[in-house]
Amino acid sequence: MVLDTVLGWFSMDMGIDLGTCTTLVCVRDKGIVLNEPSVVAVRKGTNVVLNNGEAVGLVAREMLGKTPGSISAIRPLKDGVISDFEITEAMLSYFIRKVHGRGGRLLRPRVVIAVPSGITAVERRAVIDSAERAGARKVFLVDEPMAAGIGAGLPITDPTASMIVDIGGGTTEVAIMSLADIATAESIRIGGDDMDEAVINHLKKTYNLLIGEARAEKVKIQIGSASPLDEELTMEIAGRDTISGLPRKIVITSEEIRESLRDPIATIIDAVTATLEKAEPELAADLIDNGIHICGGGSLLRGMDTVLANATGLKVHTVEDPLSCVARGTSVYLENLELWKDTMDHNGYGWE
Ligand SMILES: Nc1ncnc2c1ncn2[C@@H]1O[C@H](COP(=O)(O)OP(=O)(O)OP(=O)(O)O)[C@@H](O)[C@H]1O
Ligand SMILES: [Mg+2]
Repeated sequence: MVLDTVLGWFSMDMGIDLGTCTTLVCVRDKGIVLNEPSVVAVRKGTNVVLNNGEAVGLVAREMLGKTPGSISAIRPLKDGVISDFEITEAMLSYFIRKVHGRGGRLLRPRVVIAVPSGITAVERRAVIDSAERAGARKVFLVDEPMAAGIGAGLPITDPTASMIVDIGGGTTEVAIMSLADIATAESIRIGGDDMDEAVINHLKKTYNLLIGEARAEKVKIQIGSASPLDEELTMEIAGRDTISGLPRKIVITSEEIRESLRDPIATIIDAVTATLEKAEPELAADLIDNGIHICGGGSLLRGMDTVLANATGLKVHTVEDPLSCVARGTSVYLENLELWKDTMDHNGYGWE
């Protein structure tokens, strides 16, 4: 369509890593231009986004707690997929407007969105519809592990195996890729959020202490680990006593937090070993030299590389800038849309 081609000259195409915790947007030739929490503040009990649709991302997170009664902060993605369609659309629309400036609605951009490889056709359709209604002209979906591999600079188009383990907030994606395709993959709905929940449950069960998700995440990042530390750590944590109802402070150790994280970490390790067991022998053999590359926020947990190396006997590398490799990968797709358009799900009617 001629109109589409003309629009294409003016509009800024975008690559989006629509994450459970964080959304990153990159634009061709500019790199990452937006990195904000996937959070939307709405009037409690409604889908009305505060500040005329502007209370999204960093702003929404800042509003939290300041006017507790009438506002709720919603994370519209759960387990890596859209759990609240309308709010996801409002969030995407705000991010697209923010990146595109005032003309965003008029110059509808083409967008490449990274989605977990394990999501259903219905869930894929929901992402495409949300982005379309948020103002995108063309929507292309790419598998997160492929985008992560490309963003990490792995030779995924070569006839050799590359293995990515992306431990996000809601999902862990494990994939072995070769010749620009996924050979074997596992996508499990376990990630950093489940580790936070494990910390909350541990403190409730052991100390009758109630803490919120944000504080649990802080504990995980500050003293959490997957394998023993050279020097074990302690941390003071405040919460509410479940029996007296009053605030209380306790000191916790990295050993007990590691113990509490055991289940989600074991599930992640199982997904990695199961993927290796399913792989073609030739590809599995390549991994002896190439090793496993880990990314996503969960790859930053202390000792994550060590437990995975111990469980698989392979070398484990944490990719450079593990939080942004999926977004960087989507921008490589943007640069090569014409070449790769047929490998992606999209919303039809030509690709211009
Ligand atoms: N240093 C750290 N140690 C442990 N966990 C961390 C660290 N930094 C971030 N995380 C965790 O990583 C998770 C977020 O990772 P990431 O941004 O890759 O997720 P996402 O892409 O938004 O989610 P998903 O890919 O599942 O949709 C959160 O659970 C966060 O607590
Ligand atoms: Mg992610």
